[in-house]
Amino acid sequence: MKIRMLIFSLTVLVAAGLLWSGTPVQAEGDGGKIVFKNTKSFAPVVFYHSKHKAAGVKCNECHDSLFKKKAGSTDAGNALTMKSLRKGKYCGTCHNGSRAFSVRRSCKKCHQK
Ligand code: HEC
Ligand code: HEC
Ligand code: HEC
Repeated sequence: MKIRMLIFSLTVLVAAGLLWSGTPVQAEGDGGKIVFKNTKSFAPVVFYHSKHKAAGVKCNECHDSLFKKKAGSTDAGNALTMKSLRKGKYCGTCHNGSRAFSVRRSCKKCHQK
């Protein structure tokens, strides 16, 4: 009886393990984590969909008016620069010191090692 219980528990554990390892780190479809590497000598910019969701920002505030749902598409146009951000474009639409922290400071919040 005890052995049976043990085997049963082990089977459940193994099955759970398989399920877990098969699950992608980010839920599919939410965009996950995006890394922008066109930052010269600065650390790359890491954008987390999860943090924006947690802050109550809705998908349609960014898609597709500010960003296409495709990593790398904004960079491809070379328009994503600190200059355009400071002018209130792209990330700068919100990161202007009123809705969210400003692109003029807090460099390390975006540029992460
Ligand atoms: C604050 C802005 C913002 C919000 C809100 C946002 N996204 Fe994104 N999303 C981005 C950016 C930036 C990219 C990358 C675009 C680029 O590289 O040009 C992106 C890319 C994506 C991608 C493509 C990922 C890839 O690897 O190609 C998907 C899918 C996506 N978003 C889905 C969503 C969904 C679903 C929501 C709502 C739950 C959402 N996004 C909310 C900014 C946002
Ligand atoms: C809200 C996020 C955010 C903040 C805050 C931020 N940056 Fe950026 N930065 C970006 C993004 C996005 C890019 C474009 C990266 C790309 O195109 O791959 C960028 C690009 C850059 C570049 C590359 C050249 C250029 O001008 O585009 C430099 C240098 C840079 N940032 C420096 C800084 C400094 C210094 C600060 C603080 C005063 C800062 N950044 C604050 C998001 C941010
Ligand atoms: C539609 C508005 C909006 C846009 C566009 C947007 N953000 Fe944000 N972001 C927010 C809000 C709101 C928060 C949470 C409040 C805060 O941290 O000031 C936030 C938080 C963040 C954080 C979390 C900082 C921390 O405390 O850990 C990072 C990093 C960030 N944004 C980077 C970016 C980058 C990079 C882009 C452009 C690719 C971007 N955001 C575009 C609204 C936006």
